[in-house]
Amino acid sequence: EKGGYEHFMLKEIHEQPRALKDTLLGRLTDYGVELQEVDLTAAEVNQFHKVYIVACGTASHAGLVGKNLIERWARMPVEVDIASEFRYRRPLIDEHTLVVVISQSGETADTLAALREAHRLGARVVAVTNVVGSSVAREADDVIYTWAGPEIAVASTKAYTTQLLGMVLLGLYLAEAKGTMPAEKSQALIAAVRELPRQAQEVLDQQEVIKKLAQSFIAVEDTFFIGRGLDWAVAMEGALKLKEISYIHAEAYAAGELKHGTLALITEETPVIGLATQRGVYEKTISNIKEVKARDAKVIGLTFAGNKDMHKSVDQVVYLPETLDELAPILTVIPLQLLAYYVSVARGCDVDKPRNLAKSVTVE
Ligand code: F6R
Repeated sequence: EKGGYEHFMLKEIHEQPRALKDTLLGRLTDYGVELQEVDLTAAEVNQFHKVYIVACGTASHAGLVGKNLIERWARMPVEVDIASEFRYRRPLIDEHTLVVVISQSGETADTLAALREAHRLGARVVAVTNVVGSSVAREADDVIYTWAGPEIAVASTKAYTTQLLGMVLLGLYLAEAKGTMPAEKSQALIAAVRELPRQAQEVLDQQEVIKKLAQSFIAVEDTFFIGRGLDWAVAMEGALKLKEISYIHAEAYAAGELKHGTLALITEETPVIGLATQRGVYEKTISNIKEVKARDAKVIGLTFAGNKDMHKSVDQVVYLPETLDELAPILTVIPLQLLAYYVSVARGCDVDKPRNLAKSVTVE
């Protein structure tokens, strides 16, 4: 059942190239995207004043990437909310709001309640989910399925990367309807998206490097994941993975914000994972990494293969295959999943069933 892998989590991490490929199947043309279960006309998209993304945990981290992409590409304002907060906020939504709920299981009580609240307030609801026929899939107006296949490990991996792909597809779909993306840009994006399954495999091929890095985390108590823009969103997911399966305290921080207080916590005892894929802010991120190095923190850097100079600023670098900035999260998270996995194994934790957690949270 584990296909020769020691744990479901490792199996599912390795299924990502296949899951990404399946999630793209039949959805890309040379010019745009086709979403079979989404029935939004361009006129309908144009009457939305804003987008509201609602989800829990890992799925909410996919939502943060979705916000960045939809704002960038479709020029629509996007809010992201945690489902358990959304309901009690008296959210400002109406029939001019597109609500996007993201849920692997499609059964998370908070997310389902948020979906119902959105409907009650008159919003249109698109669901991004991995389970056909789940409550969320049945109740939403439109569905974008992630074809990750069953996810057994409590810690979400392939569901997250396919949710990110769902955000890419939705972002392209909305941009097309709004007419906000030049044809050359969408063609370049689509060509780059097609490369992702192969590139995800290239990242997985570096597994042994990550396994080695993980050994230095055995006795660690606190860590920071830092980055800017989309790297910050991925940092949150990397920190959550490490916390939930290795029980090491991990905090994700916007790299430029550290100096406003949190830098006080950085010592040689707090390893830092520095994410630096976003080209527009690369130099700025490197400066922030130097700030933590100056406090003697050990830093593992993550960047594109072309940024060979990064090794001068950090202790170790994991290089990623080159893609467009917008698509980087799908590759960047993979070494972080592997890191959490190998740290968990090295610390003797129950990888697939971490303490206190359930796979599907059906209570509020
Ligand atoms: C973390 C994790 C959880 C889920 C969250 C939402 O690894 O798996 O944070 O992402 O409980 O679950 P779904 O997506 O099923 O609504």
